[in-house]
Amino acid sequence: MQWRNTADSYGSLAKFLHWTIVVLIIAQYFIAESAHELPDGVEKLSLISWHKSFGMLVLILALVRIGWRLSNRGAPAAVPMPRWQQISAAASHGLLYLLILAQPLTGWAMSSAANYPVTLFGWFQFPALVGANHDLHEILEEVHEATFYALVIVATLHAAAAFYHHFWMKDDTLRRMLPFSARRKP
Ligand code: HEM
Ligand code: HEM
Repeated sequence: MQWRNTADSYGSLAKFLHWTIVVLIIAQYFIAESAHELPDGVEKLSLISWHKSFGMLVLILALVRIGWRLSNRGAPAAVPMPRWQQISAAASHGLLYLLILAQPLTGWAMSSAANYPVTLFGWFQFPALVGANHDLHEILEEVHEATFYALVIVATLHAAAAFYHHFWMKDDTLRRMLPFSARRKP
């Protein structure tokens, strides 16, 4: 098993972090929506608490991922593609890194502004990011929602580009990010 990126494929750690964060973000949406449907009470609080912990886990994994990306040889060389595609791929990857940081950070700040604690599965408590402030809480709630829409739009375009390369161009772009995937023989 190759942990680090190689010249033509992502390493196991980059793949593991990519797909774990994708699964957690999808789960986060369903947890938040289920909590939203519930009347105020213990069950709702418990779901929001899971949402906050998984969200903080995404923040930690995103930081590890960025650290690993910087200390690694970076992304493997792109398969041959026009310059505009290389630029849009790099821009959307940069934006996705920003969004997987911004999404949990706005959630954390929103909870702090409402004076609610943020813990990692109850193991320890994170410090408040901002002081209690009702108006700021309202704004951050909107920002947390808007960040999520931005993430959905960019990630959908990103996934569509991956499928376009895989099924239309029939190149290795998707294959080199898939777990257990062997590269096509030339
Ligand atoms: C990857 C991370 C995260 C994702 C994808 C995410 C996504 C979402 C979504 C889609 C909603 C529903 C928005 C709406 O329709 O109103 C939501 C609500 C919420 N999120 Fe997050 N979130 C993340 C991280 C966090 C974190 C780290 C916290 C706090 C520490 C947090 C706190 C909340 C709270 C308290 C709500 C409920 C707001 C309400 O009262 O409706 N989120 N989140
Ligand atoms: C929440 C959703 C997603 C996020 C935040 C995300 C984020 C990212 C980021 C930041 C990179 C750049 C990695 C690097 O070079 O440092 C990347 C690469 C990649 N992602 Fe995603 N991704 C998501 C969903 C998906 C989905 C659903 C697919 C496939 C259907 C996918 C396929 C790929 C592929 C193939 C690459 C490698 C692209 C290349 O080598 O040029 N991603 N992703």
